[in-house]
Amino acid sequence: MVTIDFGYNAGYKLAMAQPDVQALRATLGTFATGVTIVTCEVDGEVHGATVNSFTSVSLDPPLVLACLSKRSKACGYLQGSNFTVNILSADQQLHALHFAGRPQDTLVTAFEDGDFAPRIQGCVGYVSCLPWKVVDAGDHDLIIGQVADIKVSDNLAGRQPLLFYRGAFWRLGSASDSLAAMADVYADLHLTSALSW
Ligand SMILES: Cc1cc2nc3c(=O)[nH]c(=O)nc-3n(C[C@H](O)[C@H](O)[C@H](O)COP(=O)(O)O)c2cc1C
Repeated sequence: MVTIDFGYNAGYKLAMAQPDVQALRATLGTFATGVTIVTCEVDGEVHGATVNSFTSVSLDPPLVLACLSKRSKACGYLQGSNFTVNILSADQQLHALHFAGRPQDTLVTAFEDGDFAPRIQGCVGYVSCLPWKVVDAGDHDLIIGQVADIKVSDNLAGRQPLLFYRGAFWRLGSASDSLAAMADVYADLHLTSALSW
């Protein structure tokens, strides 16, 4: 058993069993995500790291975050730097490996200058950010950025996103399958009108 002390309220403590690291990884890995590469430029050099912990945070102001291991070089580079979250397309799996510390010798990465931070060509979209806040979170830092520039690929219909699930890369199923599944869920919940959005 461990005792967790919530920093914002030292008087409130919760005792729970420390989860096994393997079980924790396996469970969290069942949460399917997209895959991004976070890029920034420091001292004239472009850096990138593969990240699937990207998430939206706030609409007003527009904020997003990426959760970076304090052991990664990217975590150091992103303290106070502009950055771009490049949302990878299904054909960019080698890029995902390359920027996750598994160099792909034959891979050529086409960077382009952005107004705020470098970007990678051929992505589904990108979100460029100004640094907003870094929050200390255990062995990771939450790198929160204020959205300064966004773009979705002009060819979104022909460019599917890369997905990550249980330690492997995946592609989207067909949209009609997804809609059928949604219809089932809402029918079960007697909420069919919710599909009208
Ligand atoms: C699909 C995938 C998702 C990843 N997501 C994250 C993440 O969200 N946060 C993180 O710190 N590392 C993540 N990693 C691991 C980093 O990409 C890896 O540690 C990388 O080598 C860090 O590079 P750097 O030390 O050069 O900055 C991920 C790796 C893969 C393959």
